[in-house]
Amino acid sequence: MKIFNKAIVAVATMGLVMSASVAADVTEASSEKHAKAATQYRQAVFQLVRSNMGPLGGMAKGALPFDETVMETNAVRLEQLADMMGDYLSVDTRKFDVETGAKDEIWENFSDVESKVMALKTAAKGLQAAVKTGDESAYRAAIGKIGASCKSCHDDYKKD
Ligand code: HEC
Repeated sequence: MKIFNKAIVAVATMGLVMSASVAADVTEASSEKHAKAATQYRQAVFQLVRSNMGPLGGMAKGALPFDETVMETNAVRLEQLADMMGDYLSVDTRKFDVETGAKDEIWENFSDVESKVMALKTAAKGLQAAVKTGDESAYRAAIGKIGASCKSCHDDYKKD
């Protein structure tokens, strides 16, 4: 019985550690080199986001036919990229001269940034759910919610 209880505590503790790691803390880049690398990785995440969102946007506009396999795959990837986004956004590069589209405010309101990341994740899951039901009339709105989550973060935290 004791061993059983310990196992439960261990599992519960793991759960805490794992949920804590989703919420990234802001850390300052330690050198110009670090800031440049962190900026490259940050932009690389968004390049992958774009490559997965591109076909979905085309489908929502009617430029491409709905393809459920692509929608499912790309929505899963967008969810996975959302899981990484907090970590990659959390390195504060403000003190260094890097070419970035990120506004300074991103590191001042990081809990808000994380809620916008969560909105992307929820929208990506929403598209997965829509594909599962196979209701084609729901696809455009589900993709639209993903697009709205991009815009909501860009409006506040991306330059231009
Ligand atoms: C939580 C905030 C946030 C969300 C959500 C978000 N972005 Fe961004 N995005 C940014 C920031 C900040 C930058 C600027 C990064 C930089 O230049 O350092 C950026 C940059 C980009 C870039 C340019 C990358 C480069 O190489 O410079 C693209 C493309 C992009 N985002 C697409 C998207 C798409 C598509 C979505 C939605 C599927 C999305 N983003 C969701 C914050 C966000």
